[in-house]
Amino acid sequence: MQIRRIELSDVPDFLALWAQVYSEGAFLAKGPPPADRARQVVERVVREQIPNFVATDGSEFIGAVEVFPAAMCGISVDDSDRRGYLGIQLAKNYRGKGIGRELMQTVIADARRYGFETIELSVFQSNLAAIALYQSLGFRLTGSSSSVILPAGVSTMGQHMALSLEFTK
Ligand SMILES: CC(C)(COP(=O)(O)OP(=O)(O)OC[C@H]1O[C@@H](n2cnc3c(N)ncnc32)[C@H](O)[C@@H]1OP(=O)(O)O)[C@@H](O)C(=O)NCCC(=O)NCCS
Repeated sequence: MQIRRIELSDVPDFLALWAQVYSEGAFLAKGPPPADRARQVVERVVREQIPNFVATDGSEFIGAVEVFPAAMCGISVDDSDRRGYLGIQLAKNYRGKGIGRELMQTVIADARRYGFETIELSVFQSNLAAIALYQSLGFRLTGSSSSVILPAGVSTMGQHMALSLEFTK
């Protein structure tokens, strides 16, 4: 298993993984964007060394983790350059083997290098594996959003979590 920065040539695999995880109906609120939009974003990510990593196993594309500046997520806040928003997706057969933790540790270290002061995320309360991972890395609950019925039929709520990078190593 290898973890490296995302490259433009990863876009088709990245979108396929996103679509696959979304189709499971339990983890992600949104499906993938159109390919041309994703290419534009990854071009910028590569140019500006925004913390985005992928995991591969031989020729297989197995996971990705992204921290984007708030403004790139359409979130307008004063200190948008210092607030990163995280997403992570791992192919089903590769979960529960420690890869998610490794991806998170990699992106957190790089988010600090990039200059983010906080990493924020939203997660469904039903996603116990993801929440346990985030908590174990120091993320704390900051709020919750309204209830949703997931495509898989489960009724849950969104919750927001944040990790402060300012005073932690
Ligand atoms: C959430 C996700 C990234 C975790 O990655 P992973 O590689 O499966 O997790 P790891 O094997 O690295 O485990 C890390 C920690 O997560 C927790 N965890 C993992 N699988 C778990 C499970 N089935 N139940 C409860 N906790 C679990 C544990 O705390 C674990 O730490 P430990 O091994 O020290 O006990 C991955 O499962 C995934 O991509 N899920 C689908 C997409 C998703 O939910 N994305 C996040 C949306 S907010």
